[in-house]
Amino acid sequence: MVTYKQDLENVDWEEMKATLSQDKFDNGRSPEQLRASFTNSYATCIAYAGDRIIGTTRVLSDGICNAYIVDVWTFTPYRHQGIASTMMRILLGKLQGQHVCLVTDDSIQFYKKLGFTETETCMEQTIGKWLRNTLLAEG
Ligand SMILES: CC(C)(COP(=O)(O)OP(=O)(O)OC[C@H]1O[C@@H](n2cnc3c(N)ncnc32)[C@H](O)[C@@H]1OP(=O)(O)O)[C@@H](O)C(=O)NCCC(=O)NCCS
Repeated sequence: MVTYKQDLENVDWEEMKATLSQDKFDNGRSPEQLRASFTNSYATCIAYAGDRIIGTTRVLSDGICNAYIVDVWTFTPYRHQGIASTMMRILLGKLQGQHVCLVTDDSIQFYKKLGFTETETCMEQTIGKWLRNTLLAEG
């Protein structure tokens, strides 16, 4: 069974690094750098099969108007089961009122299904109504 965790309690960063490396999706961060990247993010979602990490997503955000999604990955044996879509929906649910961007080369269709539009520089969407979040805009 796949479970989705939004907190970073007990994350085994060595294991995350090893699985990313095995899956040829290691961009060179040490386990400690992975921990810092995820800890310093606005929100994260990690997918587990049992206690094994099989997917990641995280978002950088000011909490009001701009967000940037990175580290979207599903371990190859677990792809095409909706895992990345679920992680993305969990993150997008925390970005109400914000303009969300990401950069991708070859996953354009995947992100289009999640409501993103392709522009010259990135893929983007605004979640709900611009600036309509907990700190409401004036006027
Ligand atoms: C892109 C990526 C994150 C998608 O992960 P995933 O968990 O396989 O994604 P999902 O299962 O949610 O959706 C992917 C595809 O599976 C399909 N799918 C979803 N549930 C499915 C199911 N139960 N059965 C079969 N297919 C399914 C989706 O329709 C989608 O199809 P498409 O690729 O033809 O459009 C994954 O391929 C990956 O990690 N790639 C390498 C890293 C990468 O490129 N990340 C993006 C960087 S910006």
